[in-house]
Amino acid sequence: MCGIVGYVGKANATDILLEGLEKLEYRGYDSGGIAVSGRDGVVVEKAKGRLTALREKLDRDGRPDGTVGIGHTRWATHGEPSDANAHPHRSGRVTVVHNGIIENYLSLRQRLIQKGYEFSTETDTEVVAQYLDYYYQKNHDPLTSIIKVLHRVEGAYALGILFKDHPDTLYAVRKDAPLIVGKGKEGNNLIASDATALLKHTRDVYYLENNEIAVLTADSIGFFNVDGDPVEKEESRIDWDESAAEKGGYEHFMLKEMYEQPKTIRDTLNPRIKDGNVVIEELGMTDEEIRNVGRIHIVACGSAYHTGVTGKYVFEGMCRIPVEVDLASEFRYRDPILGEKDLVIVISQSGETADSLEALRITKAAGIMTLGIVNVVGSSIAREADKVMYTWAGPEIAVATTKAYSAQLIALYLLAIRFGQALGTVDAKATASMISELKRLPDQIELLLNNKEKIQNFANHYLAAQHIFFIGRGIDYAIAMEGSLKLKEISYIHSEAYAAGELKHGTISLIEEGTLVNAIVTQDALFAKTVSNMVEVKSRGAFVMAVTNEGNTEIENTADLVIYIPQTNRFFTDSLAIIPLQLFAYYVSVGRGCDVDKPRNLAKSVTVE
Ligand code: F6R
Repeated sequence: MCGIVGYVGKANATDILLEGLEKLEYRGYDSGGIAVSGRDGVVVEKAKGRLTALREKLDRDGRPDGTVGIGHTRWATHGEPSDANAHPHRSGRVTVVHNGIIENYLSLRQRLIQKGYEFSTETDTEVVAQYLDYYYQKNHDPLTSIIKVLHRVEGAYALGILFKDHPDTLYAVRKDAPLIVGKGKEGNNLIASDATALLKHTRDVYYLENNEIAVLTADSIGFFNVDGDPVEKEESRIDWDESAAEKGGYEHFMLKEMYEQPKTIRDTLNPRIKDGNVVIEELGMTDEEIRNVGRIHIVACGSAYHTGVTGKYVFEGMCRIPVEVDLASEFRYRDPILGEKDLVIVISQSGETADSLEALRITKAAGIMTLGIVNVVGSSIAREADKVMYTWAGPEIAVATTKAYSAQLIALYLLAIRFGQALGTVDAKATASMISELKRLPDQIELLLNNKEKIQNFANHYLAAQHIFFIGRGIDYAIAMEGSLKLKEISYIHSEAYAAGELKHGTISLIEEGTLVNAIVTQDALFAKTVSNMVEVKSRGAFVMAVTNEGNTEIENTADLVIYIPQTNRFFTDSLAIIPLQLFAYYVSVGRGCDVDKPRNLAKSVTVE
C-alpha cells in the first residue's frame, strides 16, 4: 500500500527521499512523487508508474534543490493511478502526502467547494491539503491548523506535511495508519511509514500514537497531542539492520526469504524453549487461567488466516479445546458471539492490516482477552493487543509471505503445546518429543530447499496452465489453501484449493485432460481417503503431483509425481509440506516472467479495508 518518507536535515532531500521510496517499493504502488522545500519554495514532482518514471521526470525537469522534503508511493484507492492523483498534493501554502483513507472526504469536499476551493484531483487526500490551507490562512500557525483538521477528518491517515512559510520544518501525524519518526545522526531527522525506509540513516525511532503530531527540524524533534500540549515520548531501537532488507545475492526477495525460513524458525522457537520445556513468558497465563479459557478464536487475513486454519486443527487435535477461525474482514461485521472467558488470537505479519486491527479493537471493546501474533515490532496490533507474541522473522519484503508464514506456524505450535500442558492433553513425554521434532524442522526445511531443481523442472511444464488445483484433508487442506494462494498471487494462474472430500460436490467438473492437481497427503489417518480422491481426478485426466511423508511409497501407484517431505509430528507437517509449494509458485512465476516480489495490484500491508 502507499508509502511515506520525509526528511529534514543537511543533505540533499531529493536523493534521500528517492532512496527511501525505493525501499518502500515492495509495499506495492502505482505512482510516486516528492515535494522539496528549498530556495524555489516547495517544488512538487510526481509521476504515474514505477519510480523510474519519476526519476526520468526529474532528469528532464531538473532535481529540486533543498534539504527538507516529503515523498510518497501511492496505491490508488480514490481515483485512478495518474500524475494528477499522485501525491504530494498542494493547496496554497501547504503540501501533503497521505496514507490511508479519509472516510468523510465527500462532505468535506462539498464544504470546501462552498468556501470557493476548487479540486483538481479525484483523491480523498486533496481535502486534507485544502482544509490545512483554509485554517492556515486564518491563524498562520501550522500546529493549530493541523489540530483543527484532525477534528474534521474521519478515517485512517498518516500525513507528512510541509508549510511553505516554515521551510525548515517537517510536520507529521497519524491515526490508524503507521508512521515512525527516525532520529538520525548529526541533524538529519526522518519520518517513514515503514522502518525499512529509515534503516540507512538510523535505528533510533519514535512510534507515533494516534493523533500525536511530530514537528521535526534538523536539530529537534517535538511531539504534541490534539490539545497542542507537548508530549514526552520514549525512544525505541530497531534491532535489525539494513542488510536484512537487501536481496543479498538472491534473484528475488521471495527466494531469499524462503531460504531464511530455517533461521526464522530457530529465532522464533529457541527463545521459547527453556530447560527442555516450552516457556512463553509473554503469554503471562497460569495453568489455571489457561484452563479457564472457554473458546479460542483465531482471526486474520490471507496467508495469516491459513496459519489460523492450521492452528485450529492443531489446537483442537492436541488440546481438545474448541477453536473458531475467521477472516478478519468477516469477523468484524458478523457481530461474533464471544464468551467472556474466550481468547481471541489475531495473527498478522505487518501488525497493520486494517481488518485484523479492527477485529482486535472490537474484541477489546467487548472486554475479551486478545493475543497478537505479530512480526513487526511496535506495529499497531502489537501495541494494542493485551498480549503479544512476536514472530522473529525480521523484515519481509516480498509481497507474498513465506518466512513470516512459517514463523506464525511455530508460534501457534508452541501455544498449542503450552495449552495442551495446562489442559492435561500433552504430558512431559509428548512435550519432549514435540520439542525435538520442532528443533529438527529448520534442517529438514534446508533439505527441501536444497532439492529445489526437481520442483523447478516440474514448474517449467506448467507455465501455460489455465487452472491448477490443490487438494487435501485436515491440516493438508490448510496447506493446500496456502499453496494455492502462493501460486495465484505471484503467477496469475487461476488456482483453487479444495477440501479433498468436497471435490465431487462440484469442482470435479473442472478437471479435464492434463489439469494439474497438487494433492497434499501428510496425515496418515486420512491417507487412504485422499488417495481415493486422487484416483477420482486421475481417472478424469488430471496429472497428479503428491506431497507426502517419506516412506509413503505406495502413493507412487497413483500420483504421477511425488515430493517426499521428512517425517515429523503429524501436527507440524504444514511447516515442511509448504516448502515445495512455495518453490513451485516461485518457479512458475519466474518462468512466466512475472514480477515475483511485487505482483500486480497487490500491496504488502493492507491498511485499508
Ligand atoms: C499472501 C500474503 C497476504 C497476507 C495478508 C495479511 O502471501 O502475504 O495474504 O498474509 O495480507 O497480512 P498481515 O499478515 O500483514 O496481516
